[in-house]
Amino acid sequence: MTTVVPTRAELAAARAALTGTVGVVMTMGALHSGHESLLRAAREQADHVLVTVFVNPLQFGPNEDFDRYPRTLDEDLEVCRRAGADLVFAPSVADMYPDGAPGVRLDPGRLGGELEGESRPGFFHGVLTVVLKLLQLTRADLAFFGEKDYQQLTLVRRMVRDLDVPVRVVGVPTVREPDGLALSSRNRYLSPAERVAARSLSAALHAGSLAASDGATATDVLVAANAVFGDRSDVDLDYLVLTDPDLEPGPVAGPARLLVAARVGTTRLIDNMAIRLA
Ligand code: PAJ
Repeated sequence: MTTVVPTRAELAAARAALTGTVGVVMTMGALHSGHESLLRAAREQADHVLVTVFVNPLQFGPNEDFDRYPRTLDEDLEVCRRAGADLVFAPSVADMYPDGAPGVRLDPGRLGGELEGESRPGFFHGVLTVVLKLLQLTRADLAFFGEKDYQQLTLVRRMVRDLDVPVRVVGVPTVREPDGLALSSRNRYLSPAERVAARSLSAALHAGSLAASDGATATDVLVAANAVFGDRSDVDLDYLVLTDPDLEPGPVAGPARLLVAARVGTTRLIDNMAIRLA
């Protein structure tokens, strides 16, 4: 049975009744098969599955889509029930932040200002603050995050390590559409023409990965990936970078990560892939 708890107080009571390990899947709702794959991993690895559904205002910039972000709680609860979630915590903004936006926020460090953080100032401060708060409220033993948001996953791992947060972070592979597009709640903003253009992100990652498996150098991997965007005027590339798997700076060799971000119409999309350099 799936119990829905809308307040922190009710969550505390329901959580106290659970014995055994708890796995948490944190989401902003508008659940799709990518989220479902996190739920399945949690079901397999923990005794109880707790899902949080909260569109966190702290991680949206003033010109971002907080107001128009899709809110589909009834459908989300159906997904949670089908996936066998035990508890769904779906609080209001007022319940989470009764005194308004919190004055104390986590500093994500240097990486928080790079890549996604460069175009979205304050984004990772908001993400890490709500993730830590939700970890405290849920007292989860395991927390499941998608590789789709690779920089987020990396920063959550760093926070847990740097602050000795007692939770095990589990990364879950990206779920894709048959044509390669990574599933995202924001894909629903795309017009049919934009949906076609959006394929170029995963196509570029595949091209880079293919070049790497043919023995290309880091520079040539980037050339191959960049070539997919060619003279496409309908994709506004923000970054296409090759890093080490921990997003640390420095020369890349062996296992690496290729990351891309682009705007298609008014929708910002991100994707990434593990690759191996010779
Ligand atoms: P949201 O975008 O709803 O994503 C919730 C979780 O689902 C994240 O861990 C994300 O990486 C994962 N996810 C999204 N699309 C996926 C896909 N195609 N394949 C696999 N996993 C996927 O990320 C957030 O919410 C928020 O920042 C949050 C962590 C909840 C904090 O507010």
